[in-house]
Amino acid sequence: MTRHTNYTLDVPKTIPFSLNSSEFLKNPYPLYDKLRSANPVSKITLLKYSGWYITGYDEAIAILKDTRFKNRIPLPQASKKYNDLKKIQNDMMVFKNPPDHKRLRKLVGNVFSTQVVEQYRPYIEETVIELIDRLQDKKSIDIVSDLAFPLTSLVIAKIVGVPEEDRNQFREWTVSLIHTIDIKRDRNILVNGNDTALKVLDYFKELIKKRKQNPKDDLISMLIKEEEQGEKLTDEELLATCILLIIAGHETTVNLISNSMLSLLNHPDQLKKLKETPPLIKTAIEEFLRYESPTQMTARVASEDIEINNKTIREGEQVYIFIGAVNRDPKKFTNPNQLDISRNPNPHLAFGYGSHFCLGSTLARVEAQIAINVFLQRMTNIQLTVSTPKWRVLTGFRSLQELRITATMMNEMDEN
Ligand code: HEM
Repeated sequence: MTRHTNYTLDVPKTIPFSLNSSEFLKNPYPLYDKLRSANPVSKITLLKYSGWYITGYDEAIAILKDTRFKNRIPLPQASKKYNDLKKIQNDMMVFKNPPDHKRLRKLVGNVFSTQVVEQYRPYIEETVIELIDRLQDKKSIDIVSDLAFPLTSLVIAKIVGVPEEDRNQFREWTVSLIHTIDIKRDRNILVNGNDTALKVLDYFKELIKKRKQNPKDDLISMLIKEEEQGEKLTDEELLATCILLIIAGHETTVNLISNSMLSLLNHPDQLKKLKETPPLIKTAIEEFLRYESPTQMTARVASEDIEINNKTIREGEQVYIFIGAVNRDPKKFTNPNQLDISRNPNPHLAFGYGSHFCLGSTLARVEAQIAINVFLQRMTNIQLTVSTPKWRVLTGFRSLQELRITATMMNEMDEN
């Protein structure tokens, strides 16, 4: 067991508490269960991670729908060394509050609707088939870099309007920027993130300039049109929205596809069931979202003293909503630690709740459903090559560094 940092808890001290331990990284759910059983709304004072830890489902809903809890850029003290990063994040809708949030959400929602996503379904299907074809001669496959990342980055790059050849640099940029919004960020991460933010900013400034001169059938061009027609979107907000969509558009969906595959490989009975009954894919993806939620945590700040569960959260205090814990609350889900791909209903909060509910949920679902189903139909003898895959050192996201497997591709003869 890793040594514990000094802390005060309003839950019993017998709960070993360290967000940095390797056990927590490997499997955060036992700690979530202990915290929730002690109190689903717990005040925890740790040097870096002080705040209210929310691990209960009803309590999370109460907070996420209460507009007195504000979204705020999760940067510690301001510093010139990461001011550019702060400015960009400040303009992202995910960190905005009314009335700016409502205005931006409506604008982006107009151009990024379910109908728009549906138009891309054939492209997603073709891309998955092409990527799987390329796995033919590989001795082993890394689901993250051979399937999930190329798929999600190609799709979001196409939708937003980023040239295909540029997408690889986005992987690096995204990983750097994702760390800056994680609870574990430190000064180095923020300073590096600031460098990345400047590069991303330059990149999009140039791309927006090109699209202004020569509009195309993509989201950047549609947003520019909205900006020019209605003056409803500032230049800075347009830039921040493009960056947010590219980052949010692939990072969490890579994790959904990889985590889904891992969950299946760890539950051979469920893998067999899904292979035999492909239409189960819809409930299966909802269950993977619940069971190994790609976004594990989101945060809010109380704008006044607010009572939740007989506890008073004071003005200015930080609230961490542990989505991964909430999605395993036994008061809401029967046998929550069990993976059941037929679970229905499944009211998980993997995409958040309330006014900031994920704008990309339809896209993420369509990509994951197609990727997992086509992979299972084309491959047999699917096996993990290691017993304990490596997770990235993040608390807010459940993100595999690599998911290496072996599998045999079925040819048409096998299928007949
Ligand atoms: C499995 C994949 C995904 C997961 C688990 C996920 C999760 C979430 C969550 C939990 C939130 C709410 C954050 C909060 O309340 O503080 C959110 C917001 C958001 N997501 Fe996603 N997301 C995914 C995929 C996507 C995709 C594919 C896109 C875009 C292409 C996207 C774009 C957004 C945007 C723009 C917001 C901000 C909405 C707002 O502030 O009103 N997400 N996402």
